[in-house]
Amino acid sequence: KIIVIDFGGQYNQLIARRVRDLGVFSELRPHTTTAEELKKDLPQGLIFSGGPNSVYGEGAPSCDPAIFELGIPVLGICYGMQLMSAHFGAEVSAANHREYGKALIKVEQEASLYQNQPKEQTVWMSHGDLVKAPPEGFEVLATSASCPVAAMANAEKKLYGVQYHPEVRHSEYGNDLLKNFVFNVCGCTADWTMEHFIDEKVEEIRQSVGNQNVLCALSGGVDSSVAAALVHRAIGDQLTCVFVDHGLLRKGEADSVTRTFRDNFHMNFIKVDAEERFLGKLKGVDDPEKKRKIIGNEFIYVFEEEASKLKDISYLVQGTLYTDIVESGTDSAQTIKSHHNVGGLPEKMNFDLIEPLNTLFKDEVRRLGTELGLPDEIVHRQPFPGPGLGIRVLGAITEEKLEIVRESDAVLRDEIAKAGLDRDIWQYFTVLPDIRSVGVMGDARTYDHCIAIRAVTSIDGMTSDWARIPWDVLEKISTRIVNEVAHINRVVYDITSKPPATIEWE
Ligand code: XMP
Repeated sequence: KIIVIDFGGQYNQLIARRVRDLGVFSELRPHTTTAEELKKDLPQGLIFSGGPNSVYGEGAPSCDPAIFELGIPVLGICYGMQLMSAHFGAEVSAANHREYGKALIKVEQEASLYQNQPKEQTVWMSHGDLVKAPPEGFEVLATSASCPVAAMANAEKKLYGVQYHPEVRHSEYGNDLLKNFVFNVCGCTADWTMEHFIDEKVEEIRQSVGNQNVLCALSGGVDSSVAAALVHRAIGDQLTCVFVDHGLLRKGEADSVTRTFRDNFHMNFIKVDAEERFLGKLKGVDDPEKKRKIIGNEFIYVFEEEASKLKDISYLVQGTLYTDIVESGTDSAQTIKSHHNVGGLPEKMNFDLIEPLNTLFKDEVRRLGTELGLPDEIVHRQPFPGPGLGIRVLGAITEEKLEIVRESDAVLRDEIAKAGLDRDIWQYFTVLPDIRSVGVMGDARTYDHCIAIRAVTSIDGMTSDWARIPWDVLEKISTRIVNEVAHINRVVYDITSKPPATIEWE
């Protein structure tokens, strides 16, 4: 395996992920990890990540110097290379101008890292400091217009450094460089698969949980479902899942979750039917933020009540992904909407957390889910907000309005799947605005609701564009909704991107 030592850069998990994609296990360790600890771990190679600091700056993260004497190959990336250079006596200085973006490098030494690669290649730079001359014992492997040392090596000690970021896709041959390091320098073999990940996590979970009991708030979303399936694989009946049906789920959703986990996985599965309770609390409330708060709080109350009925629970499973950790780091971001997630729970409750997915990216979690035997309908489910259909009925919620959204959404999902677009579009759903309009049906005047269709493409939900659904597919959807869903006499398509709009309407 390859261990990535974390110096605080923004692409750190991406490095580990790229190595895993090569079929070699990789994970992150803090920069405080000692040489002794690493010896026990037996990695075949180390990668020092980038980071925001200057190596001489106050509070700059450093590493145990004994690591360089272990004989384990090290690849330093950006800050990692600067740290290595400083350790071996070279000077790291501020660049004349900070470099951020694409740059061209010239390969001087084709051996080792640059085997079978073009002599000139585009790379991704992101740094304020640079190494002007390599430390003693090192030779320059590549240069760029602004970096006299864009890459360097001490082949004898198996120490390598690159100033740019090979893990970022903009570095054209970055993946080849990582391959050369991982296979040629470190001598790894590509034999790591999701099955290995499962085996390791299962062992880890068993070790930490012992014979204690574990609770999981299962929403039916991809993350909590995969986390639950993984923990169940590890400890079986020591796990209890609580699934709160707040009556704001899509058509067929509660059944599919129940079928999967209770009937197929035979888990300890508690389904709480809390529809009346939620709708009661929401009655007459039309302010979106108030609705979100009520749903979020009520969820916690219901969950706490159920948890208190269970005895001797010590752990709570959460499906936190790596990207969730990164996003919650943005303290300064303004609250556009108060997002409701089960993530609010542990602060109030006295459990230790188990977060088995916190090193993975979404697509890796999907692969893991499939490997664990979860059905496609769960593994490839589109994102669904915690408050559910509660924020897709605009204004005050009634059962009749929920039914309209549920039915029209089912038609939309059906037609998108039939058109083969369900894996291309990030999210697609219907919204019931609080307006009515005039229509004519069977020669008679109607004055009834209209449904809006929202369908967007996105990478991460932070920004998005409206999906270019073919017109004939839209036509089919519109016709079916008007014909099949009572009280709808008009269908409109939302063609706003985010920003200025958001994906959800409330
Ligand atoms: P917006 O509407 O803010 O949504 O552009 C971005 C993404 O987040 C989802 N979303 C939520 N997810 N709890 C969640 O777990 C929430 O309260 C919530 N609100 C919005 C939304 O569906 C989209 O994918």
